[in-house]
Amino acid sequence: MEQTNFWNDKFSKVDYLYGLDPNEFIASNIDLMKDKKRVLCLGEGEGRNAIFLAKEGFEVTAIDASDVGLDKLKYRASQDFLDIHCINMDLNNWEMILNEDEKYDVIVTSYLHMFEQDRNSLFNKIEQNLKSGGYFIAEFFSKEQLNYNSGGPKALDLLYDLNDFDEVFTTFEKKITKQLVHLNEGVGHQGEASVIRVIVKKN
Ligand SMILES: C[S@@+](CC[C@H](N)C(=O)[O-])C[C@H]1O[C@@H](n2cnc3c(N)ncnc32)[C@H](O)[C@@H]1O
Repeated sequence: MEQTNFWNDKFSKVDYLYGLDPNEFIASNIDLMKDKKRVLCLGEGEGRNAIFLAKEGFEVTAIDASDVGLDKLKYRASQDFLDIHCINMDLNNWEMILNEDEKYDVIVTSYLHMFEQDRNSLFNKIEQNLKSGGYFIAEFFSKEQLNYNSGGPKALDLLYDLNDFDEVFTTFEKKITKQLVHLNEGVGHQGEASVIRVIVKKN
């Protein structure tokens, strides 16, 4: 699996590439999750968002293609006596959940670099796998991130634009913005960055 080898190699070289703290945007939206229970973290890597959310009391599942990343997540979870369900899987193989009870209240992701042609399918599965009233909260690097050296891929087809969201989440309440932010996330993300921030709510 291309992503597995790439990310296993990266996560093997550095202690925690994006640090131990959660993504700031996801953490700053914790109030939206107040009455929620089941949270899914996509492309969760070394687990900083999952650890934060489990400590906040949510029932957390994390999916990632990198077993090295997930092993680091599991190590942190065991140190903190947290129970996080980890699934080592390529998200292109993720299935739609049919049973309403198994759907998630909140789905989050930070910097999941899916190829352009795989995005609509992923977003459709996110729509289907959320409960009514549930949120998808995400931060992605925008295509303008090519102008910055604060992290992220140097390939346009792995970067996002606002129009990636035109044909998805059409029946949802949507707040999707492009912003210039300052990142301070481990050695992996440092400095000024152009990001797309997503909050969508399933009605
Ligand atoms: C930039 S890292 C971000 C990790 C984590 N979300 C964070 O912010 O610390 C991208 C992560 O997405 C995962 N990933 C990329 N493509 C994937 C795919 N198709 N299926 C599952 N995971 C994938 C990688 O393995 C990696 O852990």
